[in-house]
Amino acid sequence: MKNNLPIIALDFASGEETLTFLDLFEKERLFVKTGMELFYQEGPAIIHQLKERNCDIFLDLKLHDIPTTVNKAMKRLAGLGVDLVNVHAAGGARMMRAALEGLEEGTPAGRKRPSLIAVTQPVSTSEQVAKEELLLHKPLLETVVHYGKMAEECGLDGVVCSVHETKAIYEAVRPSFLTVTPGIRTASDAADDQVRTATPSFAKENGSSAIVVGRSITKAENPVEAYEAIKLEWEGVRR
Ligand code: C5P
Repeated sequence: MKNNLPIIALDFASGEETLTFLDLFEKERLFVKTGMELFYQEGPAIIHQLKERNCDIFLDLKLHDIPTTVNKAMKRLAGLGVDLVNVHAAGGARMMRAALEGLEEGTPAGRKRPSLIAVTQPVSTSEQVAKEELLLHKPLLETVVHYGKMAEECGLDGVVCSVHETKAIYEAVRPSFLTVTPGIRTASDAADDQVRTATPSFAKENGSSAIVVGRSITKAENPVEAYEAIKLEWEGVRR
């Protein structure tokens, strides 16, 4: 990943809404995340518009399908010029390797391959949901650490995980492996539907490589102020 800025989750319903939001930040360089809602609405056009604004881009589509399909999809995504993409680790080792190969093959000559990370468990998944709905009888943390190790063995660059899992993951993987952590809230915010939230400084103290922040910024009364405060808190602990 090119920089260490907090990644803003652009969970908006349209490109117009997204660009109006980004206008608030004037010429500031941002690292943004486009998820399913926005990408399915606007398609690759939104990626081109974000690149025109000089944004670094995490395209968060969480691919999970048979290896061949994921391989071909990744070839297409590699051509968009985004910086970071992801798959579900639950798709298994063959699927993760196929994803990486697709990205490598699809990256135009002379460009850097987008980093590839694996989602361990959505941060909205609780221990109870894991056991009762997904029938994952191992403790959630054990599953997440196993997924992290598997992703590393498959050559991936990192994982998406909860800040509460980063320390345990780093006991099992190399230090340069990325841990990208959503579920971030400032101390005064509501948790919304996220179950295992934490503050930016907690994320930094626990070794997170990057934080993803959505509603704490996008729904704030003053999004720019909220972003700058989160950025300071995220950077502050490092100094
Ligand atoms: O608004 P909030 O800060 O909760 O947004 C979190 C963002 O991170 C959402 O866009 C969500 O899709 C994403 N995400 C997540 N858990 C994951 C992967 C991505 O919450 N494991």
